[in-house]
Amino acid sequence: MEKKITDIGGTWPLANGVQIPYLGLGVWQADEGAEVVQAVKWALEAGYRHIDTAAVYKNEAGVGQAIRESGVPREEVFVTSKVWNTEQGYDSTLRAFDESMRLLELDVLDLYLIHWPVPGKFRDTWRALEKLYADGRVRAIGVSNFLQHHLEELLPVAKVKPMVNQLEFHPWLVQPELQAYCRQHDIQYQAWSPLMQGKVFEQDVVNELAAKYGKSPAQVLVRWDLQRGVVTIPKSVKQNHIISNADVFDFELSADELAYIDSLDRHQRLGPDPDVFPK
Ligand SMILES: NC(=O)c1ccc[n+]([C@@H]2O[C@H](COP(=O)([O-])OP(=O)(O)OC[C@H]3O[C@@H](n4cnc5c(N)ncnc54)[C@H](OP(=O)(O)O)[C@@H]3O)[C@@H](O)[C@H]2O)c1
Repeated sequence: MEKKITDIGGTWPLANGVQIPYLGLGVWQADEGAEVVQAVKWALEAGYRHIDTAAVYKNEAGVGQAIRESGVPREEVFVTSKVWNTEQGYDSTLRAFDESMRLLELDVLDLYLIHWPVPGKFRDTWRALEKLYADGRVRAIGVSNFLQHHLEELLPVAKVKPMVNQLEFHPWLVQPELQAYCRQHDIQYQAWSPLMQGKVFEQDVVNELAAKYGKSPAQVLVRWDLQRGVVTIPKSVKQNHIISNADVFDFELSADELAYIDSLDRHQRLGPDPDVFPK
């Protein structure tokens, strides 16, 4: 079923009915303090309603502060955080969640993810996420950087299926089989490094499409994500980028153009391989 794309505040339903805004702000490498606070405030002011952080980004306190100071009602903002690799396991994940919530100063989190599939641990980590979900402390739970074989190990033992899988996704790493597998299991695909960590400008095809539509290469890729049904979280700490990255609702890529971008796939990662993830 095609997913409807309307405007910056638009949402898609997750498997449990919770609505996820399909466009969010990523804050990896946004410094804790003034930088992240300002970036999140600019994003909320521009109409973003989804912020993606993680314990390991060490900026959860700033994210929470910005939301409180923004004047946007808490319930209108979708906040994601993630349990880091060293904290995985049942009890340690529960403690890590409490610490994230202490820093964010939130009562309920919108989405909590397992950051990477730590072998031998991610199943216990998942049980902890299921408990947090059952206790009403988080509205949706999911994973990140899980390849099909990780999901095949998790799904048979999961009482609650992951609602999201957040993965590296851009024209050099399209992984159509993994996308299809997630779709089949009603797991929302979410893109990290959607702007290729800045390398977006090196893509001739993307530059050509940008020129054709009078948009920026970053806007073309954000639009490609959304038309592919992928939730996307471009990162920026610059106000002009934050505003322009979300200005993608006045043009539409054709089916051929979407396929043309897909065809740039090189199976090439910019970040770590999930089978050899950061320790
Ligand atoms: N789950 C995971 O393992 C994982 C891993 C990596 C990332 N993530 C999440 O995904 C988010 C996005 O990924 P990312 O941060 O790796 O990379 P990205 O969004 O692909 O690219 C961010 C880079 O592009 C620049 N940029 C942003 N907008 C631009 C524009 N319009 N024109 C030119 N340059 C622009 C940013 O610089 P400025 O800030 O100077 O604009 C920054 O250097 C992260 O912030 C994080 O929330 C998750």
